[in-house]
Amino acid sequence: MTPPLRINRRGFLAAGLAAAALPRVATGATSLPLRAEPVVAQILDPGDGATPMLGFNGSTPGPELRVAEGQRLSVAFENRLADPTAVHWHGIRIDNAMDGVPGLTQDAVPPGGGFGYDFVAPDAGTYWYHSHHQSWEQVARGLYGPLIVTETTPPDVDRDITVILDDWRLEQNGEMAAGFGNMHDFAHGGRMGNFAKAILSQTTVNTGERIRLRLINTATARIFPVALEGIDARIVALDGRPLAQPRALGQMLLAPAQRIDVIGDVTDVVRFLFPTPEQAYEMGKLTLGAAPVTAKRGPIQTLPAGHRPTPGEERALTLRMEGGAMGGRHAGDDIWAFNGTSGLRDAPFAQFALGDTARFTLINDTAFPHGIHLHGHHFYELDATTGSQGDLRDTTLLMAGETRDILCVFDNPGKWLLHCHMLGHQASGMKTWVEVA
Ligand code: C2O
Ligand code: CU
Repeated sequence: MTPPLRINRRGFLAAGLAAAALPRVATGATSLPLRAEPVVAQILDPGDGATPMLGFNGSTPGPELRVAEGQRLSVAFENRLADPTAVHWHGIRIDNAMDGVPGLTQDAVPPGGGFGYDFVAPDAGTYWYHSHHQSWEQVARGLYGPLIVTETTPPDVDRDITVILDDWRLEQNGEMAAGFGNMHDFAHGGRMGNFAKAILSQTTVNTGERIRLRLINTATARIFPVALEGIDARIVALDGRPLAQPRALGQMLLAPAQRIDVIGDVTDVVRFLFPTPEQAYEMGKLTLGAAPVTAKRGPIQTLPAGHRPTPGEERALTLRMEGGAMGGRHAGDDIWAFNGTSGLRDAPFAQFALGDTARFTLINDTAFPHGIHLHGHHFYELDATTGSQGDLRDTTLLMAGETRDILCVFDNPGKWLLHCHMLGHQASGMKTWVEVA
């Protein structure tokens, strides 16, 4: 259960002041039980009304699953909800049959049913798991958790802290606001919360400590800008994939589902800020303990490179985002489209032979931002001016009117979803799939 949070009622965003410790589960060879079930979380001030939500093993976020790279994760999933569901392992280069997409890779798990998710986690990095059934509602109600794949030789840090960024739309009494399938939300930016917060797996650090922060945006619609104070840090990975060189922090931006790993040295209370033109809202902080570290640290290390597929001859494809309010469509399951088509067709958007390389030109021809996610693979973002191979990502953010080329080596066989991770957009048409055989 999420421990109490303090809410700043003056703003649309909550300042999270209280500790919210994530339960942590180290996985081994044995099968790990994971139960989806109703939970109650105290999001408002204590005494102000609790929030009925959904979670895993009694809490939202669900337990942090940790597995070493190359190890097998075996999960005995049980559905104790009143509705069907399924679990997707976001960003993992996984066996297709374990990808957790009802209608494409498995049937939804009915209430009272179960499913054995069993796969090898090939690449170290920061990932997460979440419902992939009616996800615009189930994820918004809390059905997700972090999935951490640890390096064989981990970087030299004193602490490894998971930072979940989320927002919730709540009534005054703490209940989640109704209207998850609200067409007005779907046709615009999605269901934005009126409270937001960083949920931290640890809440105390010491000056001089070197810490790793794993930021995960689990919100269904909100893009989080994040600025950090009290730490001299670099970005070391995006969407779980190591950068070739640690990069200056600046102001970070996380689309729904995106992750950023940061390593740095604590100089003061570490604050997670949501900057706006008027003011910066504090979403959470790491307070200082009484054991400062004075030993000098070396430069921040590059993480081990990991899987970087080599592109071959490119096949060119165009994926145009269309629809939405101001794009002429306001209701129905075809509010949004790719290339004029809404939702999943029987035939895939494209078929690839194993190992094929494709260059997708992503065109955001709408008035809203979209975070486009491909299952089972990472892809290279290409620089708009030089065309050079940029970051490896599994979700790429395109602002209204923006165009970006991405390069993907399809080296994982199966049926893979390609969709907007603004989950209301996905629900109302912005999704398709590709097949790799
Ligand atoms: Cu994070 Cu199709 O999902
Ligand atoms: Cu979208």
